Amino acid sequence: MESYIDVHCHLTGGEFDEIGGISAVVERARENGVQRMICSGFDLASSQIAKDLSETYDEVYFCAGFHPSELKKFREGDLEEIRALCQHEKCVAVGEIGLDYHFDDNPAKEVQRDLFHRQLVLADELGLPVVLHSRDAAQETLEFLRERKELLRHGGLMHCYSYSPEMTADFMALGLRFSFGGPSTWKNGKKAQECIQRIPAPLLLSETDCPYLTPAPYRGTFPNEPKNVKYVVDNMAVLLNKNVEALKKQIMQTAKTLFFKLK
Ligand code: NI
Repeated sequence: MESYIDVHCHLTGGEFDEIGGISAVVERARENGVQRMICSGFDLASSQIAKDLSETYDEVYFCAGFHPSELKKFREGDLEEIRALCQHEKCVAVGEIGLDYHFDDNPAKEVQRDLFHRQLVLADELGLPVVLHSRDAAQETLEFLRERKELLRHGGLMHCYSYSPEMTADFMALGLRFSFGGPSTWKNGKKAQECIQRIPAPLLLSETDCPYLTPAPYRGTFPNEPKNVKYVVDNMAVLLNKNVEALKKQIMQTAKTLFFKLK
């Protein structure tokens, strides 16, 4: 049996306390064949907790960075701490970083763009890939990255890709990979399903983005957790008319190519 990988999850909050805590979450992942999880930081504190988890559990790797919606907490000096975290042997990427124009009270666009740029520079300096979060900012993200294509030399992932199938070609031209989670299994997930069928399979990755976005058939249950990445991959295999074991193997290979510190 090949292993599943959850390339984007959030295990640093208290959402799992009532279901046995992180050790039980990791144990259930293990039992369900999920051999690798990449826990994503979204600010300095969560990036530090993600590092601690990676030191406790063999299966857990992490990325460190500032999510665009969390920038109100950002203090000068934090980037130096993120830089130090990124040098950890189990830190596979700078992330999640990007642009989020969804809510009116999100940090100002200029603040988002400034920190996005500085974190892309950081990843480039460290020779690491980036994990990108982009919400309601498709064209802006595309143009921003096109202007900085040289900073993407070490690759990047559009996590929980939610834009149009047509735009996948534009992001592909920047050398990016794509991961899909629970929404691609939902009845109203046609757009994500079309993307999965359009993107070349060697560029596809699987995630949960837990604790939210629980895949079908458990949509609506909270919290989501990495063991459920199985439903995402199994559904992807159906969409691609591909053998599940072969797809699992391919996804693991793609993950190890992009996130080269993954063992
Ligand atoms: Ni996330």
